[in-house]
Amino acid sequence: MSDKVIRVGMMGLGTVGRGVYRILKENGAGIEQKVGARIEIKKILVRDLEKNRGIDPGEGILTTNISDLIENLGIDLVVEVMGGVEPAFEYSLRALNQGKSLVTANKDMIALHGKELFEAAEANGSDVLFEASVAGGIPIIRPLKECLAANRIQQVIGIINGTTNYMLTRMHEESLDFDQVLKEAQSLGYAEADPAADVEGYDAARKLAILSSIAFNTRVALNQVYVEGITHITAEDIAYANELNYVIKLLGITKETDEGIEVRVHPALLSKKHPLASVNDVYNAIFVRGDAVGDVMFYGRGAGEMPTASAVAADVMSAARNLLRNVPGMISCTCFEVKPVKPMGSTLTNYYVRLNVADKPGVLAGIAFIFGDNEVSLASVIQRHTAGHSAEIVLVTHEVLERNFQKALEAIKELPNVYEITSVIRTEG
Ligand code: NAP
Ligand code: HSE
Repeated sequence: MSDKVIRVGMMGLGTVGRGVYRILKENGAGIEQKVGARIEIKKILVRDLEKNRGIDPGEGILTTNISDLIENLGIDLVVEVMGGVEPAFEYSLRALNQGKSLVTANKDMIALHGKELFEAAEANGSDVLFEASVAGGIPIIRPLKECLAANRIQQVIGIINGTTNYMLTRMHEESLDFDQVLKEAQSLGYAEADPAADVEGYDAARKLAILSSIAFNTRVALNQVYVEGITHITAEDIAYANELNYVIKLLGITKETDEGIEVRVHPALLSKKHPLASVNDVYNAIFVRGDAVGDVMFYGRGAGEMPTASAVAADVMSAARNLLRNVPGMISCTCFEVKPVKPMGSTLTNYYVRLNVADKPGVLAGIAFIFGDNEVSLASVIQRHTAGHSAEIVLVTHEVLERNFQKALEAIKELPNVYEITSVIRTEG
């Protein structure tokens, strides 16, 4: 048993906090050997001291007073697993300003306030680690910062929201509608009562802002990420996607281009041949392309008590090693360049479009003319007669400039024989 101890203060003892507590206890002996010191949780901040948590941290460990952690000279390292932006940000900043290293799982806080946290860490010689903030248990932050550091990263494409991946998988498997799978995801505890953060794409956008900043060594702000959720995806789109040899996934896509960083979250028809197409259920995966390494994919559980705790505890071990060697502050911010974010209108993508039109001669020709006039070239067309005098047309375009495509759509909407543009979804791969 080592005589050295790293003293941890933890903010939060909910799903992730409980997992971190368990992993540090249950795997304590191995962790001590790997780090060269015992890691002891000395204080835990919670809201409710009386709550039954299924674990007993011991007398005097729980507190509702943040000063017990932050102004406590006996604590070396603070783990923030309380979530939300405030007061998590205020407390984390105070901890860094007291010279303590910070480990966090909080994507909301890092996506919004990463810059301030890193500046405070640098000023105080502390570390900030946040592996669990993107894709829970999957190692991706450190691989991008360290193992792939010699590459120029070209693109990162991820399935980084488990709830929506579960919902889309179920829609594919059972031909279910969005509302049905949402209820199912809520009953299984994947989706919150208010599912907006997941289904509107905001959760994925926060994670993508973090990934993009790290991959391209520039700070990408949350409000620079283009975001579109999955609420408009229907069982009919899924069926057409299947027929065309695609699956529909909510993707986070970021690429470095001559015009700047592309950074977007939206559902996409993804070729069944793409490695991400077979990532199903609540699983997450991140596909990285580097100039030297080529393609690399990271796959696993993007959330949950123990997978997320696995990433938090490993960060605690890294920060502890730096403290033991008296080199906290070694793991610094890697956003050392300033690169523009490419306007969405300049993005090149392929599109799938479904329209409900009058079943008359010349209607398809009118649509094709407007696309052609806006330099949108069509790759394939399916036309089906539907009830009455209407028909359904499904078009897939070649690669097009977003602003040309949107201009064409505006004009097509005005055609008298186009009753409805039912779906517009980008395609990838
Ligand atoms: P959670 O279950 O809601 O737990 C939050 C904990 O923080 C609770 O123990 C709560 O205390 C405490 N807390 C919250 N606000 C507080 C305040 N103002 N003062 C004192 N204590 C406060 O959350 P979680 O699921 O563990 O998530 C924690 C963080 O990990 C979040 O940033 C989340 O985004 C991130 N994360 C979670 C997952 C996951 O699978 N859950 C995956 C990846 C990342 P009480 O228990 O007394 O109420
Ligand atoms: N709500 C997230 C998801 C998990 O479904 O992936 C926490 O980041």
